Amino acid sequence: MKVDCLRPPTAKQFASECAVIHTTAFYASGGRGWAAEEFENLLERKTIMLLRTGYSFLLADIFQNEAEILTLAVHPDKQNQGSGGYLLEIFFEECIRSAVNQCVLEVAEDNIAALRLYRGFNFETISIRKGYFKRDNGFSSALVMKKCIFDQ
Ligand SMILES: CC(C)(COP(=O)(O)OP(=O)(O)OC[C@H]1O[C@@H](n2cnc3c(N)ncnc32)[C@H](O)[C@@H]1OP(=O)(O)O)[C@@H](O)C(=O)NCCC(=O)NCCS
Repeated sequence: MKVDCLRPPTAKQFASECAVIHTTAFYASGGRGWAAEEFENLLERKTIMLLRTGYSFLLADIFQNEAEILTLAVHPDKQNQGSGGYLLEIFFEECIRSAVNQCVLEVAEDNIAALRLYRGFNFETISIRKGYFKRDNGFSSALVMKKCIFDQ
């Protein structure tokens, strides 16, 4: 599995690819896919890092020694085949190279696949945002999760 690790300005050319994968991946879970314009704006930020394979990607914001995973998505045809886990592994290698020592993210409490993945990488819940995500039949809370990279 080949992973490109991109920073601005190169990353921006993959905004449409990210939007397609993101929308397709989140559709099944009732979540909202982000538009290409949203990715264009994000991919311009100096602090952004994009890891992509062509059918999956991880987008993170890195400021000083802290990273936030903004989103992670794998095309449904390729899910549950190790791509999400592999992107996280490569991402943590990049973090160690850049002396980033902690990582946070936000995940819906009803996102079973993502929770299993993140817990497998020793992310721990540090707070809960009640009713944060809108669903067709109500709301789902967001878990804010954190991983200390050098402790693991
Ligand atoms: C969450 C997501 C990124 C996982 O990527 P993936 O490539 O399918 O994950 P992997 O194949 O690397 O699997 C990693 C773990 O998740 C588990 N997993 C993957 N899909 C699963 C599913 N549908 N249900 C339950 N567990 C699942 C795997 O079993 C594996 O756990 P294990 O190592 O204990 O067996 C992917 O399902 C996805 O894109 N979902 C839609 C978008 C999304 O929810 N992103 C996360 C936003 S925070």
